[in-house]
Amino acid sequence: MKPSFYITTAISYVNGKPHLGHAYEQILTDVMARFKRLDGFDVMFLTGTDEHGQKVAKTAEARGVEPKELCDEISQSFRDMTTQLNISNDDFIRTTEGRHYDASQAIWNAIKEHNPDDIYLGKYDGWYSVRDEGYFGEDELTLAEDGKTKLAPSGAPVEWVEEPCYFFRLSAYTDKLLAYYEEHADFIEPESRRNEIKSFVKSGLQDISISRTTFKWGVPVPNDPDHVMYVWLDALTNYITALGYPDIEGDKYKQFWPADYHVIGKDIIRFHCIYWPAFLMAANLTVPKKVFAHGFINVEGQKMSKSVGNVIAPQDMIDAYGLDQTRYLLMREVSHGNDGNFSHEHALQRINSDLANGLGNLVQRTLSMIYKNCDGAIPQAGELSDDDRALLNHAYEKLVPAMREEGNNVRFNRMLETIWKLVMDANAYVDSQAPWGLKKTDPERMNTVLYVLAETIRVLGISVLSVTPESGAKILNQIKIADDARDFAHINAENALKAGTAIDAPEGVFPRLEAVDAAE
Ligand code: MSP
Repeated sequence: MKPSFYITTAISYVNGKPHLGHAYEQILTDVMARFKRLDGFDVMFLTGTDEHGQKVAKTAEARGVEPKELCDEISQSFRDMTTQLNISNDDFIRTTEGRHYDASQAIWNAIKEHNPDDIYLGKYDGWYSVRDEGYFGEDELTLAEDGKTKLAPSGAPVEWVEEPCYFFRLSAYTDKLLAYYEEHADFIEPESRRNEIKSFVKSGLQDISISRTTFKWGVPVPNDPDHVMYVWLDALTNYITALGYPDIEGDKYKQFWPADYHVIGKDIIRFHCIYWPAFLMAANLTVPKKVFAHGFINVEGQKMSKSVGNVIAPQDMIDAYGLDQTRYLLMREVSHGNDGNFSHEHALQRINSDLANGLGNLVQRTLSMIYKNCDGAIPQAGELSDDDRALLNHAYEKLVPAMREEGNNVRFNRMLETIWKLVMDANAYVDSQAPWGLKKTDPERMNTVLYVLAETIRVLGISVLSVTPESGAKILNQIKIADDARDFAHINAENALKAGTAIDAPEGVFPRLEAVDAAE
Protein backbone atom coordinates (compact mmCIF):
# COMPACT_ATOMS: atom_id res chain seq x y z
CA MET A 1 0.00 0.00 0.00
CA LYS A 2 1.16 3.52 -0.75
CA PRO A 3 2.09 5.74 2.18
CA SER A 4 -0.40 8.58 2.80
CA PHE A 5 0.23 12.30 2.80
CA TYR A 6 -2.27 14.97 3.81
CA ILE A 7 -1.52 18.59 2.93
CA THR A 8 -3.63 21.74 3.21
CA THR A 9 -3.45 25.43 2.39
CA ALA A 10 -5.00 28.08 4.60
CA ILE A 11 -8.58 28.73 3.55
CA SER A 12 -9.01 32.23 2.18
CA TYR A 13 -11.31 34.91 3.51
CA VAL A 14 -14.01 35.90 1.09
CA ASN A 15 -13.81 39.63 1.69
CA GLY A 16 -11.64 40.29 -1.37
CA LYS A 17 -10.50 38.75 -4.62
CA PRO A 18 -7.53 36.38 -5.02
CA HIS A 19 -4.11 37.99 -5.52
CA LEU A 20 -0.55 36.89 -6.12
CA GLY A 21 -0.01 36.07 -2.42
CA HIS A 22 -2.88 33.58 -2.46
CA ALA A 23 -1.60 32.21 -5.76
CA TYR A 24 1.85 31.71 -4.27
CA GLU A 25 0.47 29.66 -1.38
CA GLN A 26 -1.66 27.56 -3.74
CA ILE A 27 1.25 26.86 -6.06
CA LEU A 28 3.66 26.07 -3.23
CA THR A 29 1.22 23.57 -1.74
CA ASP A 30 0.39 22.13 -5.14
CA VAL A 31 4.07 21.57 -5.89
CA MET A 32 4.43 19.68 -2.63
CA ALA A 33 1.31 17.59 -3.32
CA ARG A 34 2.46 16.74 -6.85
CA PHE A 35 6.00 16.07 -5.66
CA LYS A 36 4.75 13.54 -3.11
CA ARG A 37 2.49 11.87 -5.69
CA LEU A 38 5.48 11.56 -8.03
CA ASP A 39 7.34 9.99 -5.15
CA GLY A 40 4.72 7.29 -4.64
CA PHE A 41 2.45 8.77 -1.94
CA ASP A 42 -1.33 8.64 -1.79
CA VAL A 43 -1.97 12.36 -1.39
CA MET A 44 -4.98 14.24 -0.10
CA PHE A 45 -4.74 17.98 -0.85
CA LEU A 46 -7.31 20.37 0.59
CA THR A 47 -7.97 24.04 -0.01
CA GLY A 48 -11.06 26.24 0.22
CA THR A 49 -12.65 29.39 1.61
CA ASP A 50 -13.18 30.78 5.12
CA GLU A 51 -16.55 32.47 5.02
CA HIS A 52 -17.70 33.46 8.50
CA GLY A 53 -16.79 36.23 10.89
CA GLN A 54 -17.14 39.92 11.38
CA LYS A 55 -14.89 40.86 8.47
CA VAL A 56 -17.05 39.05 5.92
CA ALA A 57 -20.25 40.30 7.60
CA LYS A 58 -18.98 43.90 7.43
CA THR A 59 -17.87 43.63 3.81
CA ALA A 60 -21.29 42.24 2.86
CA GLU A 61 -23.02 45.04 4.74
CA ALA A 62 -20.90 47.68 3.03
CA ARG A 63 -21.80 46.16 -0.33
CA GLY A 64 -25.48 45.97 0.63
CA VAL A 65 -25.73 42.22 0.05
CA GLU A 66 -26.44 39.22 2.25
CA PRO A 67 -23.25 37.59 3.56
CA LYS A 68 -24.07 34.34 1.78
CA GLU A 69 -24.34 36.13 -1.54
CA LEU A 70 -20.90 37.68 -1.08
CA CYS A 71 -19.51 34.28 -0.05
CA ASP A 72 -20.92 32.52 -3.10
CA GLU A 73 -19.43 35.06 -5.47
CA ILE A 74 -15.98 35.34 -3.92
CA SER A 75 -15.62 31.68 -3.04
CA GLN A 76 -16.19 30.98 -6.73
CA SER A 77 -13.34 33.31 -7.68
CA PHE A 78 -10.99 31.34 -5.41
CA ARG A 79 -12.23 28.11 -6.92
CA ASP A 80 -11.61 29.59 -10.38
CA MET A 81 -8.10 30.49 -9.30
CA THR A 82 -7.35 26.83 -8.54
CA THR A 83 -8.36 25.98 -12.11
CA GLN A 84 -6.40 28.86 -13.61
CA LEU A 85 -3.26 27.81 -11.73
CA ASN A 86 -3.68 24.08 -12.46
CA ILE A 87 -3.91 23.28 -8.75
CA SER A 88 -4.40 19.56 -8.11
CA ASN A 89 -6.52 19.83 -4.95
CA ASP A 90 -8.67 16.82 -4.11
CA ASP A 91 -11.34 18.81 -2.30
CA PHE A 92 -12.42 22.44 -2.01
CA ILE A 93 -14.12 23.21 1.27
CA ARG A 94 -16.42 26.10 2.05
CA THR A 95 -17.04 26.79 5.72
CA THR A 96 -20.68 27.58 4.92
CA GLU A 97 -21.32 23.97 3.93
CA GLY A 98 -23.50 21.70 6.07
CA ARG A 99 -20.67 19.20 6.62
CA HIS A 100 -18.62 21.98 8.16
CA TYR A 101 -21.35 23.16 10.52
CA ASP A 102 -21.61 19.58 11.75
CA ALA A 103 -17.86 19.24 12.26
CA SER A 104 -17.49 22.63 13.99
CA GLN A 105 -20.30 21.93 16.42
CA ALA A 106 -18.90 18.45 16.99
CA ILE A 107 -15.45 19.73 17.98
CA TRP A 108 -17.09 22.16 20.42
CA ASN A 109 -19.02 19.28 21.94
CA ALA A 110 -15.92 17.08 22.00
CA ILE A 111 -14.03 19.70 24.01
CA LYS A 112 -16.93 19.91 26.45
CA GLU A 113 -17.10 16.15 26.69
CA HIS A 114 -13.40 15.48 27.25
CA ASN A 115 -12.46 18.62 29.17
CA PRO A 116 -15.67 20.16 30.55
CA ASP A 117 -13.80 22.93 32.38
CA ASP A 118 -12.10 24.16 29.22
CA ILE A 119 -15.18 26.01 27.96
CA TYR A 120 -16.85 28.47 30.31
CA LEU A 121 -19.20 31.41 30.01
CA GLY A 122 -17.87 34.90 30.76
CA LYS A 123 -17.54 38.39 29.31
CA TYR A 124 -14.81 39.61 26.99
CA ASP A 125 -13.48 43.13 27.58
CA GLY A 126 -10.60 43.77 25.27
CA TRP A 127 -9.13 44.57 21.90
CA TYR A 128 -10.15 42.90 18.68
CA SER A 129 -8.79 43.30 15.16
CA VAL A 130 -11.46 42.61 12.58
CA ARG A 131 -8.91 42.36 9.77
CA ASP A 132 -6.98 39.63 11.61
CA GLU A 133 -10.13 38.27 13.31
CA GLY A 134 -7.89 38.15 16.37
CA TYR A 135 -7.77 39.20 20.03
CA PHE A 136 -4.73 41.13 21.21
CA GLY A 137 -3.37 42.15 24.60
CA GLU A 138 -2.76 45.84 25.35
CA ASP A 139 0.99 45.15 25.47
CA GLU A 140 0.98 43.92 21.86
CA LEU A 141 -0.50 47.12 20.42
CA THR A 142 1.22 50.15 18.91
CA LEU A 143 -0.11 53.61 18.12
CA ALA A 144 -0.89 54.71 14.57
CA GLU A 145 0.57 57.90 13.12
CA ASP A 146 -2.55 59.81 14.18
CA GLY A 147 -1.46 59.14 17.78
CA LYS A 148 -4.90 57.74 18.67
CA THR A 149 -5.73 54.57 16.73
CA LYS A 150 -4.32 51.43 18.29
CA LEU A 151 -2.86 48.86 15.95
CA ALA A 152 -2.40 45.09 16.12
CA PRO A 153 1.07 43.72 15.23
CA SER A 154 -0.15 43.27 11.63
CA GLY A 155 -0.81 47.02 11.38
CA ALA A 156 -4.59 46.53 11.41
CA PRO A 157 -6.62 48.83 13.69
CA VAL A 158 -8.16 47.24 16.78
CA GLU A 159 -11.50 48.03 18.36
CA TRP A 160 -12.66 47.68 21.95
CA VAL A 161 -15.08 44.79 22.40
CA GLU A 162 -17.28 44.11 25.41
CA GLU A 163 -19.66 41.21 25.10
CA PRO A 164 -20.80 38.03 26.81
CA CYS A 165 -18.95 35.08 25.37
CA TYR A 166 -17.65 31.60 25.97
CA PHE A 167 -13.98 31.29 26.81
CA PHE A 168 -11.56 28.52 26.00
CA ARG A 169 -9.11 27.77 28.81
CA LEU A 170 -6.00 28.25 26.69
CA SER A 171 -4.01 29.09 29.82
CA ALA A 172 -4.19 25.42 30.82
CA TYR A 173 -2.26 24.46 27.66
CA THR A 174 0.94 26.47 28.12
CA ASP A 175 2.99 23.55 29.42
CA LYS A 176 1.35 20.99 27.16
CA LEU A 177 2.13 23.06 24.10
CA LEU A 178 5.73 23.70 25.17
CA ALA A 179 6.17 19.97 25.78
CA TYR A 180 4.69 19.26 22.35
CA TYR A 181 7.12 21.67 20.66
CA GLU A 182 10.02 20.02 22.50
CA GLU A 183 8.99 16.51 21.53
CA HIS A 184 8.20 17.44 17.92
CA ALA A 185 11.09 19.66 17.01
CA ASP A 186 9.93 20.06 13.41
CA PHE A 187 6.27 20.87 14.18
CA ILE A 188 6.81 24.50 13.19
CA GLU A 189 8.98 25.40 10.21
CA PRO A 190 11.02 27.48 9.58
CA GLU A 191 12.98 27.67 12.80
CA SER A 192 12.61 31.43 13.17
CA ARG A 193 8.83 31.00 13.41
CA ARG A 194 9.22 28.14 15.88
CA ASN A 195 11.27 30.39 18.14
CA GLU A 196 8.73 33.19 17.81
CA ILE A 197 5.92 30.87 18.88
CA LYS A 198 7.87 29.26 21.69
CA SER A 199 8.76 32.56 23.28
CA PHE A 200 5.17 33.79 22.97
CA VAL A 201 3.87 30.66 24.70
CA LYS A 202 6.61 30.78 27.34
CA SER A 203 5.49 34.26 28.31
CA GLY A 204 2.18 32.65 29.40
CA LEU A 205 -1.12 32.18 27.58
CA GLN A 206 -4.41 33.88 28.40
CA ASP A 207 -7.79 32.25 27.93
CA ILE A 208 -9.44 33.25 24.65
CA SER A 209 -12.97 34.14 23.75
CA ILE A 210 -14.43 31.51 21.40
CA SER A 211 -17.86 32.94 20.72
CA ARG A 212 -19.38 36.23 19.64
CA THR A 213 -22.78 37.67 20.42
CA THR A 214 -22.79 41.05 18.65
CA PHE A 215 -23.33 39.62 15.16
CA LYS A 216 -24.84 36.48 13.73
CA TRP A 217 -22.63 35.44 10.78
CA GLY A 218 -21.12 32.22 12.07
CA VAL A 219 -21.73 28.67 13.17
CA PRO A 220 -24.22 28.67 16.08
CA VAL A 221 -22.81 27.46 19.39
CA PRO A 222 -24.43 24.12 20.29
CA ASN A 223 -27.34 24.64 22.69
CA ASP A 224 -26.83 28.42 22.89
CA PRO A 225 -28.02 30.08 19.68
CA ASP A 226 -27.35 33.59 21.02
CA HIS A 227 -23.68 32.88 20.33
CA VAL A 228 -21.88 32.14 17.10
CA MET A 229 -18.55 30.37 17.24
CA TYR A 230 -15.37 32.47 17.02
CA VAL A 231 -14.43 32.33 13.34
CA TRP A 232 -10.97 30.86 13.91
CA LEU A 233 -12.34 27.91 15.87
CA ASP A 234 -14.72 27.17 13.02
CA ALA A 235 -12.13 27.89 10.29
CA LEU A 236 -9.37 25.69 11.70
CA THR A 237 -11.80 22.82 11.98
CA ASN A 238 -12.06 22.74 8.17
CA TYR A 239 -8.96 20.56 8.10
CA ILE A 240 -10.84 17.71 9.73
CA THR A 241 -14.28 18.46 8.26
CA ALA A 242 -12.87 17.43 4.89
CA LEU A 243 -11.85 14.07 6.37
CA GLY A 244 -15.40 13.36 7.52
CA TYR A 245 -15.05 14.50 11.15
CA PRO A 246 -16.82 13.73 13.53
CA ASP A 247 -16.65 10.24 12.01
CA ILE A 248 -13.19 9.47 13.37
CA GLU A 249 -13.61 5.81 12.50
CA GLY A 250 -14.25 6.69 8.84
CA ASP A 251 -11.72 5.71 6.14
CA LYS A 252 -10.58 9.22 5.27
CA TYR A 253 -10.03 10.35 8.81
CA LYS A 254 -8.18 7.18 9.67
CA GLN A 255 -6.03 7.35 6.59
CA PHE A 256 -5.12 11.04 6.59
CA TRP A 257 -5.29 12.47 10.10
CA PRO A 258 -3.05 13.84 11.56
CA ALA A 259 -2.15 16.13 8.64
CA ASP A 260 1.41 15.99 7.38
CA TYR A 261 1.53 19.65 6.37
CA HIS A 262 -0.51 22.74 7.02
CA VAL A 263 0.90 25.34 4.62
CA ILE A 264 0.12 28.89 5.78
CA GLY A 265 1.49 32.43 5.63
CA LYS A 266 3.63 33.87 8.41
CA ASP A 267 0.81 36.17 9.59
CA ILE A 268 -1.36 33.33 10.92
CA ILE A 269 1.09 31.16 12.87
CA ARG A 270 -0.41 31.96 16.27
CA PHE A 271 -3.72 30.45 15.21
CA HIS A 272 -2.16 27.32 13.70
CA CYS A 273 0.66 26.66 16.15
CA ILE A 274 -1.05 27.60 19.43
CA TYR A 275 -4.85 27.66 19.15
CA TRP A 276 -5.24 24.71 16.77
CA PRO A 277 -3.12 22.17 18.68
CA ALA A 278 -4.72 23.32 21.95
CA PHE A 279 -8.26 22.89 20.55
CA LEU A 280 -7.33 19.45 19.25
CA MET A 281 -5.74 18.37 22.54
CA ALA A 282 -8.84 19.56 24.39
CA ALA A 283 -11.08 17.58 22.03
CA ASN A 284 -8.87 14.52 22.51
CA LEU A 285 -7.76 14.52 18.88
CA THR A 286 -4.27 14.15 17.43
CA VAL A 287 -2.17 17.20 16.60
CA PRO A 288 -0.89 17.75 13.03
CA LYS A 289 2.70 16.85 12.21
CA LYS A 290 3.83 20.10 10.71
CA VAL A 291 2.89 23.72 10.13
CA PHE A 292 4.97 25.37 7.43
CA ALA A 293 4.82 29.16 7.38
CA HIS A 294 5.89 30.81 4.15
CA GLY A 295 6.78 34.46 3.70
CA PHE A 296 4.91 37.19 1.88
CA ILE A 297 5.09 38.13 -1.77
CA ASN A 298 5.88 41.78 -2.38
CA VAL A 299 5.62 43.52 -5.73
CA GLU A 300 8.51 45.61 -7.09
CA GLY A 301 9.87 45.85 -3.55
CA GLN A 302 6.61 46.98 -1.94
CA LYS A 303 3.94 45.29 0.11
CA MET A 304 0.91 44.53 -2.06
CA SER A 305 -1.98 46.78 -1.14
CA LYS A 306 -5.06 48.28 -2.67
CA SER A 307 -4.01 51.78 -1.65
CA VAL A 308 -0.61 51.48 -3.39
CA GLY A 309 -2.48 50.01 -6.37
CA ASN A 310 0.06 47.24 -6.95
CA VAL A 311 -2.15 44.20 -6.32
CA ILE A 312 -1.59 41.58 -9.01
CA ALA A 313 -4.37 39.15 -9.94
CA PRO A 314 -3.14 35.61 -10.64
CA GLN A 315 -4.75 35.64 -14.10
CA ASP A 316 -2.78 38.77 -15.08
CA MET A 317 0.46 36.93 -14.35
CA ILE A 318 -0.65 33.96 -16.41
CA ASP A 319 -1.65 36.23 -19.30
CA ALA A 320 1.70 37.98 -19.20
CA TYR A 321 4.06 35.03 -18.76
CA GLY A 322 2.15 31.79 -19.21
CA LEU A 323 0.94 29.38 -16.55
CA ASP A 324 3.97 27.16 -16.02
CA GLN A 325 6.26 30.16 -16.32
CA THR A 326 4.34 31.82 -13.46
CA ARG A 327 4.52 28.68 -11.35
CA TYR A 328 8.23 28.29 -12.06
CA LEU A 329 8.98 31.90 -11.32
CA LEU A 330 7.25 31.95 -7.95
CA MET A 331 8.91 28.71 -6.87
CA ARG A 332 12.35 29.68 -8.17
CA GLU A 333 12.46 33.22 -6.80
CA VAL A 334 11.34 32.74 -3.22
CA SER A 335 13.54 30.94 -0.73
CA HIS A 336 12.38 28.74 2.14
CA GLY A 337 10.08 30.65 4.48
CA ASN A 338 11.30 34.08 3.37
CA ASP A 339 9.45 36.94 1.76
CA GLY A 340 9.79 37.08 -1.99
CA ASN A 341 9.84 39.96 -4.36
CA PHE A 342 8.23 40.00 -7.77
CA SER A 343 9.58 42.33 -10.43
CA HIS A 344 8.65 42.29 -14.12
CA GLU A 345 12.17 42.85 -15.35
CA HIS A 346 13.65 40.06 -13.30
CA ALA A 347 10.78 37.74 -14.20
CA LEU A 348 11.54 38.07 -17.90
CA GLN A 349 15.22 37.38 -17.42
CA ARG A 350 14.55 34.34 -15.30
CA ILE A 351 11.98 32.84 -17.65
CA ASN A 352 14.12 33.39 -20.70
CA SER A 353 17.36 32.15 -19.23
CA ASP A 354 16.10 29.09 -17.35
CA LEU A 355 13.06 28.02 -19.32
CA ALA A 356 13.49 29.25 -22.91
CA ASN A 357 17.29 29.05 -23.21
CA GLY A 358 17.89 26.33 -20.63
CA LEU A 359 15.43 23.47 -20.63
CA GLY A 360 13.38 24.59 -23.65
CA ASN A 361 16.40 24.86 -25.92
CA LEU A 362 17.82 21.53 -24.76
CA VAL A 363 14.58 19.73 -25.60
CA GLN A 364 14.04 21.56 -28.85
CA ARG A 365 17.48 21.04 -30.31
CA THR A 366 17.76 17.42 -29.23
CA LEU A 367 14.37 16.34 -30.47
CA SER A 368 14.78 18.28 -33.73
CA MET A 369 18.05 16.49 -34.41
CA ILE A 370 16.46 13.13 -33.68
CA TYR A 371 13.46 13.93 -35.81
CA LYS A 372 15.57 15.00 -38.75
CA ASN A 373 18.52 12.64 -38.54
CA CYS A 374 17.16 9.44 -37.03
CA ASP A 375 14.01 8.90 -39.10
CA GLY A 376 11.85 10.47 -36.41
CA ALA A 377 12.51 7.71 -33.88
CA ILE A 378 14.64 7.24 -30.77
CA PRO A 379 18.01 6.00 -32.04
CA GLN A 380 19.88 2.95 -30.87
CA ALA A 381 22.79 3.74 -28.53
CA GLY A 382 26.15 2.09 -29.17
CA GLU A 383 28.87 1.65 -26.58
CA LEU A 384 28.78 4.37 -23.91
CA SER A 385 31.72 6.70 -23.32
CA ASP A 386 32.69 8.07 -19.90
CA ASP A 387 30.92 11.33 -20.72
CA ASP A 388 27.73 9.48 -21.61
CA ARG A 389 27.86 7.49 -18.41
CA ALA A 390 28.54 10.59 -16.33
CA LEU A 391 25.45 12.34 -17.66
CA LEU A 392 23.20 9.28 -17.24
CA ASN A 393 24.59 8.67 -13.79
CA HIS A 394 23.69 12.23 -12.84
CA ALA A 395 20.14 11.64 -14.13
CA TYR A 396 19.60 8.21 -12.54
CA GLU A 397 21.57 8.33 -9.34
CA LYS A 398 22.01 11.88 -8.15
CA LEU A 399 18.93 13.78 -9.19
CA VAL A 400 16.08 12.18 -7.25
CA PRO A 401 17.90 11.93 -3.89
CA ALA A 402 18.92 15.58 -4.22
CA MET A 403 15.37 16.59 -5.16
CA ARG A 404 14.01 14.72 -2.13
CA GLU A 405 16.45 16.41 0.17
CA GLU A 406 15.14 19.82 -0.93
CA GLY A 407 11.52 19.01 -1.83
CA ASN A 408 10.70 17.24 1.42
CA ASN A 409 11.81 20.39 3.21
CA VAL A 410 9.76 22.77 1.04
CA ARG A 411 12.92 24.24 -0.46
CA PHE A 412 11.58 24.32 -3.98
CA ASN A 413 13.93 27.04 -5.15
CA ARG A 414 16.78 24.69 -4.32
CA MET A 415 14.97 21.72 -5.78
CA LEU A 416 14.80 23.64 -9.05
CA GLU A 417 18.47 24.55 -8.83
CA THR A 418 19.16 20.85 -8.46
CA ILE A 419 17.17 19.99 -11.57
CA TRP A 420 18.76 22.82 -13.49
CA LYS A 421 22.22 21.45 -12.70
CA LEU A 422 21.25 18.53 -14.89
CA VAL A 423 19.88 20.89 -17.54
CA MET A 424 23.22 22.71 -17.56
CA ASP A 425 25.19 19.46 -17.65
CA ALA A 426 23.10 18.25 -20.55
CA ASN A 427 23.50 21.50 -22.48
CA ALA A 428 27.26 21.40 -21.89
CA TYR A 429 27.23 17.79 -23.12
CA VAL A 430 25.45 18.80 -26.34
CA ASP A 431 28.05 21.50 -26.93
CA SER A 432 31.01 19.26 -26.24
CA GLN A 433 29.73 16.26 -28.19
CA ALA A 434 28.48 18.42 -31.08
CA PRO A 435 26.18 15.71 -32.48
CA TRP A 436 25.34 17.85 -35.54
CA GLY A 437 28.92 17.33 -36.77
CA LEU A 438 28.78 13.57 -36.33
CA LYS A 439 26.16 12.80 -38.93
CA LYS A 440 28.75 12.52 -41.67
CA THR A 441 31.82 11.47 -39.69
CA ASP A 442 30.43 8.97 -37.17
CA PRO A 443 26.66 8.34 -37.40
CA GLU A 444 26.80 5.59 -34.83
CA ARG A 445 28.31 7.97 -32.29
CA MET A 446 25.67 10.57 -33.20
CA ASN A 447 22.99 8.01 -32.40
CA THR A 448 24.55 7.28 -29.03
CA VAL A 449 24.81 10.96 -28.11
CA LEU A 450 21.23 11.65 -29.16
CA TYR A 451 20.00 8.60 -27.27
CA VAL A 452 21.77 9.75 -24.08
CA LEU A 453 20.24 13.20 -24.52
CA ALA A 454 16.74 11.86 -25.15
CA GLU A 455 17.02 9.73 -22.04
CA THR A 456 18.18 12.73 -20.01
CA ILE A 457 15.21 14.67 -21.34
CA ARG A 458 12.88 11.89 -20.23
CA VAL A 459 14.26 12.19 -16.71
CA LEU A 460 14.03 15.98 -16.81
CA GLY A 461 10.45 15.80 -18.10
CA ILE A 462 9.45 13.72 -15.08
CA SER A 463 11.42 15.79 -12.62
CA VAL A 464 9.77 19.10 -13.58
CA LEU A 465 6.22 17.72 -13.38
CA SER A 466 5.54 19.09 -9.91
CA VAL A 467 6.45 22.70 -10.73
CA THR A 468 5.58 22.89 -14.44
CA PRO A 469 3.08 20.06 -14.94
CA GLU A 470 1.81 21.02 -18.42
CA SER A 471 5.26 21.58 -19.87
CA GLY A 472 6.66 18.42 -18.29
CA ALA A 473 3.76 16.52 -19.84
CA LYS A 474 4.41 18.16 -23.23
CA ILE A 475 8.01 16.96 -23.13
CA LEU A 476 6.99 13.46 -22.14
CA ASN A 477 4.22 13.33 -24.75
CA GLN A 478 6.68 14.14 -27.52
CA ILE A 479 8.81 11.13 -26.60
CA LYS A 480 5.77 8.92 -25.99
CA ILE A 481 6.16 8.16 -22.31
CA ALA A 482 3.11 6.29 -20.95
CA ASP A 483 1.09 8.03 -18.24
CA ASP A 484 1.87 5.39 -15.66
CA ALA A 485 5.61 5.73 -16.29
CA ARG A 486 5.75 9.36 -15.22
CA ASP A 487 7.05 9.16 -11.67
CA PHE A 488 10.30 8.92 -9.73
CA ALA A 489 10.14 5.12 -9.64
CA HIS A 490 10.76 5.20 -13.40
CA ILE A 491 13.90 7.29 -13.19
CA ASN A 492 16.38 4.48 -13.78
CA ALA A 493 18.05 2.48 -16.53
CA GLU A 494 15.46 -0.33 -16.41
CA ASN A 495 12.81 2.06 -17.65
CA ALA A 496 15.00 3.77 -20.22
CA LEU A 497 13.62 4.81 -23.61
CA LYS A 498 13.24 2.07 -26.18
CA ALA A 499 15.18 2.57 -29.40
CA GLY A 500 12.86 2.73 -32.39
CA THR A 501 10.06 4.59 -30.58
CA ALA A 502 8.63 7.11 -33.06
CA ILE A 503 8.53 10.64 -31.64
CA ASP A 504 6.25 13.54 -32.49
CA ALA A 505 7.40 16.45 -34.60
CA PRO A 506 9.11 18.62 -31.95
CA GLU A 507 7.14 21.59 -30.67
CA GLY A 508 8.66 24.35 -28.55
CA VAL A 509 7.89 23.92 -24.88
CA PHE A 510 8.99 27.28 -23.48
CA PRO A 511 8.82 30.16 -25.97
CA ARG A 512 11.19 33.06 -25.52
CA LEU A 513 9.32 36.05 -24.08
CA GLU A 514 9.76 39.54 -25.46
CA ALA A 515 9.66 42.44 -23.02
CA VAL A 516 6.65 43.91 -24.73
CA ASP A 517 4.44 40.78 -24.25
CA ALA A 518 4.92 40.83 -20.53
CA ALA A 519 4.54 44.57 -20.06
CA GLU A 520 1.06 44.63 -21.58
N1 MSP B 1 -8.92 32.87 6.51
C1 MSP B 1 -7.60 32.92 7.07
C2 MSP B 1 -6.97 31.55 7.11
C3 MSP B 1 -7.76 30.50 7.85
S1 MSP B 1 -6.94 28.95 7.84
C4 MSP B 1 -7.85 28.00 8.85
C5 MSP B 1 -6.73 33.86 6.23
N2 MSP B 1 -7.19 34.14 5.00
S2 MSP B 1 -6.46 35.13 3.96
O1 MSP B 1 -7.28 35.15 2.79
O2 MSP B 1 -6.19 36.38 4.59
O3 MSP B 1 -5.09 34.50 3.63
C6 MSP B 1 -5.01 33.21 3.05
C7 MSP B 1 -3.56 32.78 2.97
O4 MSP B 1 -2.86 33.64 2.05
C8 MSP B 1 -2.83 32.89 4.31
O5 MSP B 1 -1.98 31.78 4.53
C9 MSP B 1 -2.02 34.17 4.15
O6 MSP B 1 -0.85 34.18 4.92
C10 MSP B 1 -1.69 34.11 2.67
N3 MSP B 1 -1.34 35.42 2.13
C11 MSP B 1 -2.10 36.56 2.11
N4 MSP B 1 -1.36 37.56 1.54
C12 MSP B 1 -0.13 37.09 1.17
C13 MSP B 1 0.97 37.60 0.48
N5 MSP B 1 1.07 38.87 0.08
N6 MSP B 1 2.00 36.75 0.23
C14 MSP B 1 1.95 35.42 0.55
N7 MSP B 1 0.92 34.92 1.20
C15 MSP B 1 -0.10 35.74 1.62
O7 MSP B 1 -5.68 34.26 6.69
